[in-house]
Amino acid sequence: MKTLITEKQIRLKVIELAEGISKDNSSGKLHVLFVLKGAFIFCADLVRALSSHKLDVTVDYIIAKSYVGTESTGDVKSSVDVDIKEKEVLLLEDIIDTGRTIKRLKEELMKMQPKSLRTVCLLDKPSRRDVDIKIDYVGFEIEDRFVVGYGLDYDEKYRYLPFIAEIENLVRFAHNWNVGILE
Ligand code: IMP
Ligand code: MG
Repeated sequence: MKTLITEKQIRLKVIELAEGISKDNSSGKLHVLFVLKGAFIFCADLVRALSSHKLDVTVDYIIAKSYVGTESTGDVKSSVDVDIKEKEVLLLEDIIDTGRTIKRLKEELMKMQPKSLRTVCLLDKPSRRDVDIKIDYVGFEIEDRFVVGYGLDYDEKYRYLPFIAEIENLVRFAHNWNVGILE
């Protein structure tokens, strides 16, 4: 495993993201919706950084799962049961890969008539995108690698790492990663 983004780089980036997000806020209130499970650590740090900008932050979660192991099932399962009508909403994701999860979630949420809906992710793999989606705030753009840590898992492992690491020796076949096969 190789470190890709250090703990310090993440800390500075979270502060920078919070500055941008709070500048664009108009009501003094922000309802953060984070996507379980991967985004839980990013969310915990970002909401604390936002609170130093005197924003009245509330938090709720959405469950979405499109991956089993490292294989995208293609079918994004989500349970969107939140109250966001007329709220200024920030949808928070750990990583954007194909973009399907966030696109689907945005569509579901827009039906609930929020005052506004913006999106933030810590990591983005733009080369992997297969749907057209604009993310308002992006932490780091990364290459097409499978990464873990800071909430992100490989088969439920490594979420606790305080940094982002790349798992080496994974080989991708078409859209999916296969594990344990050496290049
Ligand atoms: P998308 O729908 O293809 O954009 O997939 C996004 C979801 O896939 C993320 O929320 C992650 O849960 C998962 N994912 C994508 N790439 C990685 C990775 O490199 N490591 C861990 N999880 C990933
Ligand atoms: Mg996720």
